[in-house]
Amino acid sequence: MSRIRSLGTLFVLAALCASALAFAAAPAAKGKPAAGDKAAKIKKGEYLTTIMGCNDCHTPGTFYGAPDFDRKLSGSEIGWKGPWGVSFARNLTPDAETGIGYYSEDEIVHSFRTGIKPNGSPMLPPMPWPNFAAMSDEDLHAIAAYLLSLKPVKHAVPESVPPGQPWTGATIEIPAPPAWDAPRTTPASPAGK
Ligand code: HEC
Repeated sequence: MSRIRSLGTLFVLAALCASALAFAAAPAAKGKPAAGDKAAKIKKGEYLTTIMGCNDCHTPGTFYGAPDFDRKLSGSEIGWKGPWGVSFARNLTPDAETGIGYYSEDEIVHSFRTGIKPNGSPMLPPMPWPNFAAMSDEDLHAIAAYLLSLKPVKHAVPESVPPGQPWTGATIEIPAPPAWDAPRTTPASPAGK
């Protein structure tokens, strides 16, 4: 009987120890993510940017069948011409002057959700931010963390050109649609102005 009782006491002690250990571990889980979590988040961001076509527009050379992955996601000089003027897929590496080094992870996520950059200007077409706005917070944060983990590349792409202003560089023009495809209402200016 006393043997059974002491076994019982042992079980109770073991259970108490286990819950004390779990309690001690809990604050670590809630605090800063462990290094392994951060690496997994960045890996997921890399996977998402690869399958979501970011390199098509943002990595130099991709449209010519020769993406330059040494300068991965560092922007392209090809102009996208449409009713919004001419836009350029920007340098997404964290270079402070020519890339997005001035964005925080939260600001990148906010810009994907709203189509407004941290400086208050809109993300012009063909940047497909309305698709990204539907993504989960977890996925958007993974993409943002991945971009900020890239090797900074110094590469200034041209500033966007307002409608009606001349641009003579390489251009992909989105032609006006034929009548059957034209919007029934005039699209709102992407600048909201
Ligand atoms: C079809 C081409 C295209 C694709 C695909 C594309 N982008 Fe873009 N992106 C652009 C263009 C063009 C701009 C510049 C818009 C402007 O000037 O307002 C831009 C701008 C951005 C900006 C703002 C940079 C800044 O300096 O403010 C971020 C961030 C961005 N893209 C991230 C991404 C990510 C991440 C992906 C993939 C998940 C992606 N883009 C896919 C064309 C594209």
